[in-house]
Amino acid sequence: MFKKTYRKFKRIASTNKYRNLFRSNIAIEEPATIPVSVKLNSNIQIGRHSWFNANTVVYGETKIGRFVTTGRNCEIGVVNHPIERISASSIFYNKNYHVLPEQYKSFSQIEFKNQIHGCKIGNDVWIGTMSIIKAGVIIGDGAVVAAHCMVTKDVPPYAIVGGIPAKIIRYRFDKNIISRLLKIKWWEYDLMELDGIEFDNIEKALVQLEERFCNEKKSK
Ligand SMILES: CC(C)(COP(=O)(O)OP(=O)(O)OC[C@H]1O[C@@H](n2cnc3c(N)ncnc32)[C@H](O)[C@@H]1OP(=O)(O)O)[C@@H](O)C(=O)NCCC(=O)NCCS
Repeated sequence: MFKKTYRKFKRIASTNKYRNLFRSNIAIEEPATIPVSVKLNSNIQIGRHSWFNANTVVYGETKIGRFVTTGRNCEIGVVNHPIERISASSIFYNKNYHVLPEQYKSFSQIEFKNQIHGCKIGNDVWIGTMSIIKAGVIIGDGAVVAAHCMVTKDVPPYAIVGGIPAKIIRYRFDKNIISRLLKIKWWEYDLMELDGIEFDNIEKALVQLEERFCNEKKSK
């Protein structure tokens, strides 16, 4: 059992390094767990302790915070094709995506100028299985994206959103707790600095975090 897990981890770690050679501008703040089946496009940042499940795709120009979790088959930062043009096909604006025989290579293309790329996912965000997040969307710290939904608008911190299009179902905590969490920003600390915090008890954990880090913040 242990051997199997160890082999899997090695494969993931070496894939990250391998990927960096091929894709441009991928910055992974290690340690992060990114299986081989996850596809990362260019210009992507991923924060430490983020954990991706199989087959997720992260589109270009996307910034993902720390302690982010994704379910399987998520699509983060999907771009629109130009639906106001006569054709939405990318062959008319980016023929590099297409496999073209020689006689079509001189076909001229017209740039798609206002295509929105990338989205911003905060820290400690949990993205449920098979969810899609549109390019341009900002997801606040601590938010939850329910399984199987399409996020088309920004999501406030600690909101739980679900459905197609995604709407706010509720918030994880009350306003007072959310504002304390956003002040303490526990994800800025090293994992070992968080050791001993009672993460299963929000009230106690907040008091412990405030005692441990608030004085330090004031003195900075
Ligand atoms: C969003 C989620 C966390 C809510 O969990 P919960 O608090 O136990 O939610 P409940 O089942 O009590 O549902 C609360 C409400 O949200 C709605 N809801 C729950 N999941 C939803 C979804 N995926 N899409 C749309 N609405 C959803 C419920 O219908 C319910 O609505 P109502 O109050 O009008 O009846 C959970 O449903 C979910 O989607 N989890 C993702 C699981 C996953 O993908 N895991 C992968 C592992 S990484």
